[in-house]
Amino acid sequence: MSFHDSVVYQVYPRSFRDSTGNGVGDLRGVIEKVPYIASLGVDHVWLNPFFPSPGRDNGYDVSDYRAVDPAMGTMEDFEELVEALGGHGIGVMVDMVLNHTSTEHEWFRRALEGDKHYQDYYILRPARADGALPTNWVSKFGGPAWAPFGDTGLYYLHLYDLTQADLNWRNPAVRAEVADIVNFWRGKGVRGFRFDVINVIGKSEVLLDAPPGTDDRAMYTDGPDVHTYLRELAAASFGRDPGTVTVGEMSSTSIEACVGYSDPANHELDMVFSFHHLKVDYAEGQKWTTMDFDLPALKRVLNDWAVGMQAGGGWNALFWNNHDQPRALNRFADPGRYRVESATMLATVIHLMRGTPYVYMGEEIGMTDPAYTSIGDYVDVEALNAYQELLTQGLTQEEAFDVVRAKARDNARTPMQWEPGPGAGFTRGTPWLRPANQDQVSVEAEERQGRILPYYRRLIALRKQYPVVSEGSYEPYALDHPDVLAYQRHHEGQHLLVLCSFRAYETTIEVPADFQDSRVLVSNYDDEPTWLASDGADVAVRLRPYQALALLVSCPVRSSLQTD
Ligand code: NOJ
Repeated sequence: MSFHDSVVYQVYPRSFRDSTGNGVGDLRGVIEKVPYIASLGVDHVWLNPFFPSPGRDNGYDVSDYRAVDPAMGTMEDFEELVEALGGHGIGVMVDMVLNHTSTEHEWFRRALEGDKHYQDYYILRPARADGALPTNWVSKFGGPAWAPFGDTGLYYLHLYDLTQADLNWRNPAVRAEVADIVNFWRGKGVRGFRFDVINVIGKSEVLLDAPPGTDDRAMYTDGPDVHTYLRELAAASFGRDPGTVTVGEMSSTSIEACVGYSDPANHELDMVFSFHHLKVDYAEGQKWTTMDFDLPALKRVLNDWAVGMQAGGGWNALFWNNHDQPRALNRFADPGRYRVESATMLATVIHLMRGTPYVYMGEEIGMTDPAYTSIGDYVDVEALNAYQELLTQGLTQEEAFDVVRAKARDNARTPMQWEPGPGAGFTRGTPWLRPANQDQVSVEAEERQGRILPYYRRLIALRKQYPVVSEGSYEPYALDHPDVLAYQRHHEGQHLLVLCSFRAYETTIEVPADFQDSRVLVSNYDDEPTWLASDGADVAVRLRPYQALALLVSCPVRSSLQTD
């Protein structure tokens, strides 16, 4: 299947390249950088929302689904971008934010004006007899998930910001509108869709309180109707284009649900994003905390998902970074002492796995979180709400700031660093968000003498050259090793062993005897691996700080090497 050997590049347009000098990235800026994107060897570009929006949540509060925000350009610019990328065989993946609309969307405005037709587009409920809100659910951006619906006495549901009103997917008219929006973009030559938080669209008619002490997300996540709605949407829109690639963002989900969403037999989506591997640095499961990441937990989660999705016939979207996550380099490795090794090791973990890798802009040059020093440097609504909430909980300003610095989504949204200098080659004006460290890290420097960018290009190419990477089965390896994340892949007589050290010190790991005659498919160190004699039939290899080593052997079926 074609998306098995594909790689997706994610562009956050506000932060990629500003062609006008107003400090905000735009579509013409992306057009200017098409040759760079093509040079990576990727197959699709996922563009974060560029639709008209009041911008309370940086475009995830859409006020018109069929237009381009004037700050981002014009529809002609978009068409030109589709064509320019298409000229390199690269498809555009558009971000469909269909769980909620902005409260400035015409549907919501008409609903507020009393239009019953549009009132049924949203989830409106009266207060309870005692005046309490309809349920005890909380917004993912803080505070209650209900807000007064004008002066009607009703409340509307907003799982996200106050200005992001949840749509009522139980209403067939909403489902028809949504399919029509997807078809509009199909008509523009779009052959890829990313569906924002799509696993929360299936809310029940009767909305219930989360029982005391339980997580309210269970009350509306992965509801039984999601599958029905997705199948219906696929049949009415993207499912009609066999080459279209689709990915659903699945919030707080399960392997079982994700198998359902991505098993081809179900005709829902091609693949899913899940986030459990990015919660291994959440103290007690809470995002707005700080904690060193838990390597055993990270290994366990990645392995469980690889095994479980494979067993069920599902397919993972593989990623470390996106516009909502602090940079993985800062979270899971050592950008200070081992930036190059860390970045290339992390990339190896993802790119040789079973699934479709996603590269978030800047990751391929080893961009890191900015070292901001004041809360005034942060702009994201989620971070600013969280900061206030932490102060309310009794943290000092300094403590609250430390948490924001570690967890804010702004960390990922700093401008793409094209070159050294004040605007980072991103803008000739004042950037909307201060770049992190363009004088140390930039595309220009990487192209000249860097080791991260060429390594990414190589990994992306390997997926196309080696079916064991794109199609091979996944097999766990050394799950109990304290320092190394490892796995095997197998495909028609080819066997791959991937060893990735998450430590800043040297470590050793046993290698099955069958890999003694292997060759190095890829490594982030230039020298040959150091082999060590070990117990029994196995040998061991020494891994240097943050070393990634992938060994390939071609051989007929042997007892110790499984085949698919
Ligand atoms: C997930 C998006 O990735 C995030 O940026 C956004 O805030 C929420 N969904 C709400 O749309």
